[in-house]
Amino acid sequence: MSLFDSFFKDVGIDLGTANTLIYERHKGLVIDEPTVAAINNKTNEILAVGDKAKKMLERTPSHISVVRPLQNGVISDFDMAYEMLRQFLKSIAGPFGFRRGVLGVPNDLTEVERKSVEDVAKNAGCAKVNLVESLVAAALGADLPIESPTASLVIDIGGGTSDIGVISMGGIVISRTLRVAGDKLNEDIIRFLREEFKLAIGEPTAEFAKIAVGSAVPVEKLEVPVRGRDLASGLPREVLVKNIHIRAAIAKSLTTMLESIHEVIEGAPPELAGDMLRQGIVVCGGGALLRGLDHLIEKETSVTTHMAPEPLTCMVRGLGRIVDNFDHYGNLLDNPLKPVDIQL
Ligand SMILES: Nc1ncnc2c1ncn2[C@@H]1O[C@H](COP(=O)(O)OP(=O)(O)OP(=O)(O)O)[C@@H](O)[C@H]1O
Ligand SMILES: [Mg+2]
Repeated sequence: MSLFDSFFKDVGIDLGTANTLIYERHKGLVIDEPTVAAINNKTNEILAVGDKAKKMLERTPSHISVVRPLQNGVISDFDMAYEMLRQFLKSIAGPFGFRRGVLGVPNDLTEVERKSVEDVAKNAGCAKVNLVESLVAAALGADLPIESPTASLVIDIGGGTSDIGVISMGGIVISRTLRVAGDKLNEDIIRFLREEFKLAIGEPTAEFAKIAVGSAVPVEKLEVPVRGRDLASGLPREVLVKNIHIRAAIAKSLTTMLESIHEVIEGAPPELAGDMLRQGIVVCGGGALLRGLDHLIEKETSVTTHMAPEPLTCMVRGLGRIVDNFDHYGNLLDNPLKPVDIQL
């Protein structure tokens, strides 16, 4: 790392619905925290962001609320998103702040939504902001040969969005973004336990059960006790949640994801089909960690499917490659960088 880097920092930012990750140029991953903020409702003051705020979720007194400033991959609370990012950046800032922030955004954001991501990053401390298609960054993070004429099929299943796309020569040939991802699976589990067990549970408990015993294909002998509130008596009650319950709860959402994957494969130009068969499908994002999801996708598409190594950090590592090598990857950005932008 040069002296210049320690003064004028460049960062890659994955501002996700569930998690925010920041990669600092020539340094590596420096922030990996949940995208949440805790606020005092009476004073509107932010009490904590990230990990500290998440610990307060669902256990807060009435004058504190824990908010998630992004919903379904889109900034829903601008002030909270900006304040959260400002605090993350402040914790890693050098004496001269941040020269450039590169953020990955879903392919289907509107101009207004893209502008709002840009403004959040600028207000939070980045002097210049560039956006890049999140799937392109994820493909780079997964080490796919994105600049070659060979097509790759990448699926990023996050908290709020599932992005599915075919990438070739550094660009997206065809893609779909659907709002069925990790958060929707949690909602499915909450609804299932309410209907089948007459038990009310919160979002953190649903996520815990999904991670503990969930899977996309049948798995034997996975079960976990889950505590909630009995809907009839209003009293605390424990039930044993099994793998089969979670599978039943999330089946419809998984079918929706598979349908979209089919649509993308069918919509791709036929000459790319051979590439996809050779290259296979790569799945990343936290949702890729659902047990057996890669097997299910492989079975349903007949295309070899792999989970990217470290799927939760795949996209930010791709952004990291861009900020480490602006001279090579600057052309992938929304406003391709000129030589004058990337000297030093
Ligand atoms: N082991 C696991 N099994 C199933 N799901 C998991 C597992 N670990 C994490 N997840 C899910 O991954 C999601 C978070 O993934 P990720 O951090 O990639 O999302 P994000 O980038 O913040 O969201 P988005 O890209 O949609 O804006 C959460 O919904 C979480 O429940
Ligand atoms: Mg993401």
